[in-house]
Amino acid sequence: MLIPAAGSGVRLGAHLPKTLIDLAGRPMFVRAADSLVRHPLCIETVIAAPAGFEEYYLEAAGKAWADYDVRVVTGGRTRQESVTFALRSLQQDSDAILIHDAARPFITPDVIERVLAALMAGDTAALPGLPVTDTLKRVATDSRLVDSTVDRHDLMAVQTPQGLRRDAAQTAFDRATRDGLDGTDDVWLIEHYRLGSIRVVDGAPRNFKITTPEDLARARELLAYDTH
Ligand code: CTP
Ligand code: MG
Repeated sequence: MLIPAAGSGVRLGAHLPKTLIDLAGRPMFVRAADSLVRHPLCIETVIAAPAGFEEYYLEAAGKAWADYDVRVVTGGRTRQESVTFALRSLQQDSDAILIHDAARPFITPDVIERVLAALMAGDTAALPGLPVTDTLKRVATDSRLVDSTVDRHDLMAVQTPQGLRRDAAQTAFDRATRDGLDGTDDVWLIEHYRLGSIRVVDGAPRNFKITTPEDLARARELLAYDTH
C-alpha cells in the first residue's frame, strides 16, 4: 500500500502540510490510510511525507498502527515522484499495490474491495470512478468564450485507491522516471505504455479529495454529523 501524503496543500492554504491537518482528533493521512493499513490483504504500507516533516508522520503512524508494518519515506516534488520513492522502498513481495491519496479521508472498505476484485479478476489496473453529472463546456482559456459542449456520457471522474499489478507498476514507474513523464494519477502510465487493461469500478461520493477550504469544511461537517 502506498500513501502519497507529501503535498504542501497550496490550494488549501493552511499553515501546515494538508495531510497533517487534524480532522476530529486524527490527522487527515491517518484517516485516509487506516482502512487500507488494516485490510487483511495488506502486508506493508509506505507513506510519502513532505521533506522536513517526516518525524510528525512517523509519530502519528506509530500511535495509530503500532502492530502494523508502516514506514515513512521522504516524498518528492510531484505526486508521481512521491509514489515512485514509496514504490522503491517496498520490501515485501506482493502481486498488487494500492495507491491512495492521503487527502481522501473518507475511503470505505466497499470501494477498496471493488478495486481488489477487478485486479483479482485479471485487470492490470483498477480505480474507482463516478459518472460526471455537471454539464461540461470547452472554453477558451483566456477569453472564457464557450467553444462547445462536451458529451459526458463516456466520461468519469476518477478517485483513489488506484490498484496496479506489481509488475506493471514497477515497469510503468521505472520507464516514466527514465522518460521524464509526470502525471497526476497512477494508472495513466499504464495507459501511456499500454501495459494492460484498466477497469473503472464504482467509486463513492464520500471519497472526495480535500483540495480547497470548502472541501475541508465539508469534511468537518461530515465528521460532526457522524459522531452525533
Ligand atoms: N502529493 C504527494 N507529493 C507531492 C504532491 C502531492 O505525495 N509532491 C500527494 C498529496 O499529499 C495528496 C495527493 O498527492 O495526498 C493528491 O494531491 P493534491 O490533492 O494535489 O495535494 P497537494 O499537492 O498537497 O495540494 P495542492 O495541489 O493544492 O498544493
Ligand atoms: Mg497537488
